[in-house]
Amino acid sequence: MIQIAPSILSVDIAKITEAVQIVEEAGADLIHIDIMDGHFVPGLSFGPQLISSIKKETSLPMDVHLMVENPRSFIQEFSEAGADWISIHVEASKHLNKDINMIKEFHKKAGIALNPATPVSLINDILGDLDYVLLMTVNPGRGGQEFIPSCHSKISNLKKLIKDRKLNIPVEIDGGIKLSNIEDVIKDGADIIVSGSGIFSDENPRETIIKMKAMVKKYEQQ
Ligand code: DX5
Ligand code: ZN
Repeated sequence: MIQIAPSILSVDIAKITEAVQIVEEAGADLIHIDIMDGHFVPGLSFGPQLISSIKKETSLPMDVHLMVENPRSFIQEFSEAGADWISIHVEASKHLNKDINMIKEFHKKAGIALNPATPVSLINDILGDLDYVLLMTVNPGRGGQEFIPSCHSKISNLKKLIKDRKLNIPVEIDGGIKLSNIEDVIKDGADIIVSGSGIFSDENPRETIIKMKAMVKKYEQQ
């Protein structure tokens, strides 16, 4: 089943609780939360306190995307705050194997995120240990950017690699996805689709999520 993971990065901070309710009522599958440290990416976003607050408002799993240097030093805090899925960047982790194991020790789903220009071959040897792979389809750091077209073949190549190795690892796609191009990434093989401004810059976020879910359903029934 293809899952929709709305990203709350582009939501007005005063309206986050409202956004979480909309996301849940509209039938989204996960809530994607972007953590930015001002080093790995220029901006700052949320800390673990936000995760624990949102956790009280929703039963949806929280998909925490750590766009931070030295992710190891944040894993415990975000796990204890209530993250359910945690991804770390291959470009930021010095000891991928140790960091992935640490996420698993907290009984969280462990994923590796790759920037658009980072080759998938970098995670070849650790692929079998992952619960998911996150492919960035914009350069990380802010919402509202355009999907980078070369990422289409990257998604399908990774899906092929996973299939050839007889693994069952979902591929999450993050950046520049909206109603107008969601079908393209579904066709590429995306399993989890993040959308931030594509949902929350729209006049009616609830309707947009419902339409995205309907597109997924239509595709799955084909
Ligand atoms: C980008 C973040 C994304 C972002 C997506 O650095 O990792 O999750 O929120 O936003 P849109 O969908 O607007 O590209
Ligand atoms: Zn993200």
